[in-house]
Amino acid sequence: MKGHIRTMLDGQKKHLSFHTPGHKKKGADITELSYSDNLSAPHGVLARAEIDVGKILGANRSFLLTDGSTCGVHAMLYALKKSGATSVAYADVSHVSVKNGCILSGLESVVLSTKTKDGIPQPPTLDEMEKGLKRADALLLTSPDYYGNFPDLEGARAICQREGKPLLVDGAHGSHLHGTKLHAGEYASIWVDGVHKSLPALTQGAVVSAKTEKWSLLLEESVLLFRTTSPSYPIMASVEEAVKYPKNERLEEAAKRLKQRLCAYPNKDWTKIVVPFGDFSDVAQNYLEQKGIYCEFNDGNYLMFYLSPCTKMRWLKRLEKELSRLPRTTVQDGAHANGEKSGRTQWIPLADAVGKTCAKDAGRFPPCLPLVKEGEKITKDSVKALQTAGHTFGLKEGKISVYE
Ligand SMILES: Cc1ncc(COP(=O)(O)O)c(C=O)c1O
Repeated sequence: MKGHIRTMLDGQKKHLSFHTPGHKKKGADITELSYSDNLSAPHGVLARAEIDVGKILGANRSFLLTDGSTCGVHAMLYALKKSGATSVAYADVSHVSVKNGCILSGLESVVLSTKTKDGIPQPPTLDEMEKGLKRADALLLTSPDYYGNFPDLEGARAICQREGKPLLVDGAHGSHLHGTKLHAGEYASIWVDGVHKSLPALTQGAVVSAKTEKWSLLLEESVLLFRTTSPSYPIMASVEEAVKYPKNERLEEAAKRLKQRLCAYPNKDWTKIVVPFGDFSDVAQNYLEQKGIYCEFNDGNYLMFYLSPCTKMRWLKRLEKELSRLPRTTVQDGAHANGEKSGRTQWIPLADAVGKTCAKDAGRFPPCLPLVKEGEKITKDSVKALQTAGHTFGLKEGKISVYE
């Protein structure tokens, strides 16, 4: 379905481009012209798109973003700071944009340590949230996470209401849930929808929304601090259309049935099929890639297959056929023990790091969650998972930072 922005783009008259962008080509990639509105103070086509998006997402106001959910998380935290809050509680496995947003906004982080189950990080429990919220002015949850786990949002909202503190949700992986009881917009004062991940928007397309007038005004000021002043029209048009994209119920049902047949991780998010391979995860990934099938991530234990309403039914059939040919073994749920910290740190080869205390979180990218955290003893399993990874974070030229 064509949105307001695409209709405007398609209706452009031929003209000489004495304006940016420098490629000077006719098409959707234009700048803010007299007829194309201005995202910093929208009153035309972009305002109409934001109103429609806000209605669909259940917001008082929504703001289009062309800088990813990262920009939305930063703006959300800055709005929180502007409201008078000085601290926020969030899980240790939150996306790095949360920690960075706190640094940028001058908010104190109250970090909730979470547990893993079958090698998968779990959302904080209500008890953990409640304890964290006693020490913080707000709670920020990720919902759903990369593995399709949901925190108890209803319980979280009740705790926040009782404490008189706001609930913020990083819904970078949950925009396809709008209109359902699982969507962040049902519970949060401010939330982010990462439209480019689970809905068909172009990469970096996202939305940040507020539930009430008060939070909308704070958010309106905050987005201006973090958004680019040259927003991409192709991305904005794709965000509007992605939010308006029809649900694909046939695919949703097929994905749920496939998960059961595959004995996949039992999450409640149909777009995330998380298949346990244990030690065979690298073998499985290589085999699938040779067959032309690429997953979203391989965390060394699980392969995650990301769906959207645009996924073709026949792709699911192919995936099932190829997966059924692959061996699997039990997943690792590595024990994490604290190590000894000294003041000084050094970079050492991974092969020499077993038993040392990690000085900088390191893991596979994506999902960008640490296999070993700062302060933890480095195990043989985490070294192996890092050595065999395609992409990593926290390492430097194959070396890991440890306490001396
Ligand atoms: C939970 C979560 N939040 C935020 C982000 C940032 O999203 P983006 O890459 O759109 O900036 C990610 C990225 O993977 C994420 O997983």
